[in-house]
Amino acid sequence: MSSVVPAFNRGDPLSKRPGVDTQLAASLARALPLPPFRLAHISDLHLPPPERGAGPELQPKRLLSRYAWRRKRLRHDPAALAAIAADVRAADPDHVAVTGDLTNFSRLEELEAAALWLGGLGPPQAVTVSPGNHDALVGRSGAARFAPWTPWLGDEPELEFPKVRRRGPVALVNLCSAQPTALHLAQGVLDPEQLQRLPAILRRLRAEGAFRILLLHHPPAHGVVSRRKSLRQGPELRSILAAEGCELVLHGHGHQATVAALEGPEGAIPVLGAPSASSSGRHGPAARWHLFEIDRGPHGWAVRVEARGLRGGGGGVERLGRYALAPSSSVFHRPS
Ligand SMILES: [Fe+2]
Ligand SMILES: [Fe+2]
Repeated sequence: MSSVVPAFNRGDPLSKRPGVDTQLAASLARALPLPPFRLAHISDLHLPPPERGAGPELQPKRLLSRYAWRRKRLRHDPAALAAIAADVRAADPDHVAVTGDLTNFSRLEELEAAALWLGGLGPPQAVTVSPGNHDALVGRSGAARFAPWTPWLGDEPELEFPKVRRRGPVALVNLCSAQPTALHLAQGVLDPEQLQRLPAILRRLRAEGAFRILLLHHPPAHGVVSRRKSLRQGPELRSILAAEGCELVLHGHGHQATVAALEGPEGAIPVLGAPSASSSGRHGPAARWHLFEIDRGPHGWAVRVEARGLRGGGGGVERLGRYALAPSSSVFHRPS
């Protein structure tokens, strides 16, 4: 048996070579449990802006953001982010989801620097980015603004969201809530086209038996962040999810570790927010990331989450907790 095991990798079709007993091969393949799909979630990197090329700033929103950055820059520590990124790479997940705010002022040179950083995290096929409000402070709307990140947004060159990526048993449905808003607002906006396309996408992926994970920067559950930072189309998105469902929603933006539940057609949908992966811990939770293990068990999907991060006050990245999610019932949690 051990000589057979290495021949079967996740997703491999069974051999069609003449002389191979495909029935026996199929029963052997069934007998071998597939390893869980492992997804890393990091968010709100707020990479330090490049020194050169900034130039005089004429956009009031960027000026305001630069003023805020001067106050808040000590909240973000490149060393903390480097430690988190090293820990993610060491965990060797199947895929990494990055839910936005990679930059601070959404300047082109920041987007290009962020693309370089993403390249160090993993190949674009294994990393998906959902942009945040800081990645779209001003300027034109639409995916073209994120051109340096195109390989990380989805598999298709088309620019429209939602973009879908199939990876093993998982379907990543990448929404973009990053659009320029008024001066003092950090709200999220889902344009009507995204909302229009989403139900059919969720329905199709459900029919395919995929574990559907929605990615977006702004939290879709009511009350997770203040109105000034909220998702404008939260009610519309919640009603789509109530009708079509999905198995997990991941977001950033709040710079807090949050758990919420949204109504789905077969029970609660878990919604998890990750804090900033570069947080120094001086104001709010220290840098952290989440590792999801997704498994199809005899009674449906099983999801485990490991929170890993810095505890603040020195030390390296360590396990902060381990929990089990219940995608079709009351959400959470069982420390182990
Ligand atoms: Fe942020
Ligand atoms: Fe944000």
